[in-house]
Amino acid sequence: MKRSFVCKSCGHVSPKWLGRCPECGTWESMVEDAQGPSHGHGLHGDTGSFKAIALSDVSSLDEGGRIEVGMDEVDRVLGGGLVPGGLVLLGGEPGIGKSTLLLQVLMRLEGKGERVLYVSGEESLSQLRLRADRLGRCGEGLFVASESDLERVLGLVNDLRPSVLAIDSVQTLSAPDIASAPGSVAQVRESTAWLMRTGKRLSLPVIIIGHVTKDGAIAGPRVLEHLVDTVLYFEGDRSYSFRILRSVKNRYGPTHEIGVFEMRETGLEEVPNPSRLFLGQQASAVPGSVIVPCMEGTRPILVEIQALVSPSYLAMPRRTVTGFDTNRLALLIAVAEKHLGVVLYDKDIFINVAGGIKISETASDLAIIAALVSSLQEQPVCLGTAFFGEVGLTGEVRPVGRADIRLNEVARLGLRRCVMPTVASQGIQVPEGWMSCRWIP
Ligand SMILES: Nc1ncnc2c1ncn2[C@@H]1O[C@H](COP(=O)(O)OP(=O)(O)OP(=O)(O)O)[C@@H](O)[C@H]1O
Ligand SMILES: [Mg+2]
Repeated sequence: MKRSFVCKSCGHVSPKWLGRCPECGTWESMVEDAQGPSHGHGLHGDTGSFKAIALSDVSSLDEGGRIEVGMDEVDRVLGGGLVPGGLVLLGGEPGIGKSTLLLQVLMRLEGKGERVLYVSGEESLSQLRLRADRLGRCGEGLFVASESDLERVLGLVNDLRPSVLAIDSVQTLSAPDIASAPGSVAQVRESTAWLMRTGKRLSLPVIIIGHVTKDGAIAGPRVLEHLVDTVLYFEGDRSYSFRILRSVKNRYGPTHEIGVFEMRETGLEEVPNPSRLFLGQQASAVPGSVIVPCMEGTRPILVEIQALVSPSYLAMPRRTVTGFDTNRLALLIAVAEKHLGVVLYDKDIFINVAGGIKISETASDLAIIAALVSSLQEQPVCLGTAFFGEVGLTGEVRPVGRADIRLNEVARLGLRRCVMPTVASQGIQVPEGWMSCRWIP
């Protein structure tokens, strides 16, 4: 057998071991791949009875219908439900609640009359039962198996013919033909490929759980993410009880859509109104605290940005940021110094997005600058005011998309004022009871 080495992070194959992957630059990521690349010799282009057919003659997947889970937060992230034959990869850090979410999804599906199979290679059946008891009633259509042998799992699928299959986790599965240990690149890749083929053949939606590595990527090669139809990440801060389900790849739905949940003793509870969760309880206006309406997929969420600006006694003043991009902060500090005339180079600056959420939208630029100036001058911004707008290098405030949706969310949560770019406000309905005023510098 030909020996080859494969990179755990990007799947690059090399005939000899290398300390650093030449493809993605990761150190010590090459592991031995017992299988090695296959070379197709002697191809003659003989199709036999195999023919291509016109796409217009192929029946659409939507005719078979998506399988709605019945949890709005999950269905929205999936783009309307599970697709028959679709393979969903659910990744997340250890202990974040992946198994809990999966079991809850399966229990909902079972409640709607689906026949579901949950295969766990990590927990025993009685442990699964313990969790299920915590989460609610489990009906007769939810089948469980504690198994890690891929062949036996596929046999079980053929016997039981479930309408949804769930695997917890792909790292525990072992394919019989592969010599390497479960969880290795070759095993994970082979098991996923088999599950995908089985799912497509039986029009069976498959959900697999994948662990993430220290740097946040799903363990196993990157090819795993290319292989599956949908990649969801379940994330959250351990110190908070809320969890976010994020879609990073979806062949049959939108990406960057999120679902918000709260971890309770009785399981994960959907949070249909996340703004209340992330918004601090502001009784009085305090310097350095500003509210911004951010968009997460199609949904607006109000978040509180907190800034602390204090004199620095260090040669290199400190810039500590939680939940926001450090480089973007450096840019905004430079813009504020240049165009607002504030002095920040000798100040320590701390930025925190309250509630542990991460924001990556440029719409929060204006709010960050407002928070910085507010903290620097010890002047609170008016209570009940939100800010949004992108700030350019020349100091201009640029419009951002979905201004109307943001404004409505601000009004819905009882705020009474919003500072936004003038261009974005054109043609927008001002919420009831608000006064429209324009300030053109
Ligand atoms: N009785 C309880 N009350 C509240 N929260 C609980 C309770 N039991 C478990 N949890 C929560 O569930 C989490 C564990 O969930 P789960 O086992 O689904 O995580 P996981 O992502 O599947 O973990 P792993 O990677 O180890 O498989 C715990 O971290 C805790 O937050
Ligand atoms: Mg688990």
